[in-house]
Amino acid sequence: MEILKNKNIIITGGSGGIGKATAKLFLAEGAKVMLVGRKEDKLKSAIKELNTKNVSYCIADVTKIEDTKKYTEATLEKFGHIDVFFNNAGVEGSVKPIEQYPETDFDNVIAVNLKGVWLGCKYVIPKMKDGGSVMITSSVAGLKGFSGLGAYVASKHAVVGIMKVAAIEFAIVVLGLIPFTLDQ
Ligand SMILES: NC(=O)c1ccc[n+]([C@@H]2O[C@H](COP(=O)([O-])OP(=O)(O)OC[C@H]3O[C@@H](n4cnc5c(N)ncnc54)[C@H](OP(=O)(O)O)[C@@H]3O)[C@@H](O)[C@H]2O)c1
Repeated sequence: MEILKNKNIIITGGSGGIGKATAKLFLAEGAKVMLVGRKEDKLKSAIKELNTKNVSYCIADVTKIEDTKKYTEATLEKFGHIDVFFNNAGVEGSVKPIEQYPETDFDNVIAVNLKGVWLGCKYVIPKMKDGGSVMITSSVAGLKGFSGLGAYVASKHAVVGIMKVAAIEFAIVVLGLIPFTLDQ
């Protein structure tokens, strides 16, 4: 069965373990998929492995506004519309107690896992004009604490919050259910 026929899907972190495995399943159901990542060699290797004309890639850093616009526009140009957004790119960062945790690593984990997800929601969802599905990859670390993973745990808790807000704002605005107000 091709339950995703005529559906176009963006996967950030599409060259990684979860992104590529998800792409495989989406493609098997008839979707067209845009893989997003920073490293072209990894993207090309994923494309080769997936081995279908229905998959494409865009080199982009999800922490950057211009790159977020770039992968959004590249998908629209290639496929015409966006139906599913898998906001998935993430990094674990160092494993160290808070008192020894490098500030640069903290900033990088928050930039990819939190700001990257937020930028994706900000720029991709408004382009899903006919509605669609949005998934964000949190983690069990979005539900509980783990020693040594302060930045990662904080970022994965935070994206659960973003998802809740996006679900309220975009369900209301995109579907036009009721007018959006700040106290929803
Ligand atoms: N694996 C697990 O056990 C597990 C468990 C719970 C949650 N998760 C979450 O699941 C998601 C995917 O994890 P994974 O295991 O598939 O990781 P992975 O194999 O390490 O892949 C990470 C992906 O994210 C991309 N990426 C990293 N930084 C990026 C950036 N700044 N801009 C664009 N792309 C970027 C990488 O591509 P480039 O290197 O080319 O940038 C790669 O495609 C992450 O959010 C992770 O936190 C994973």
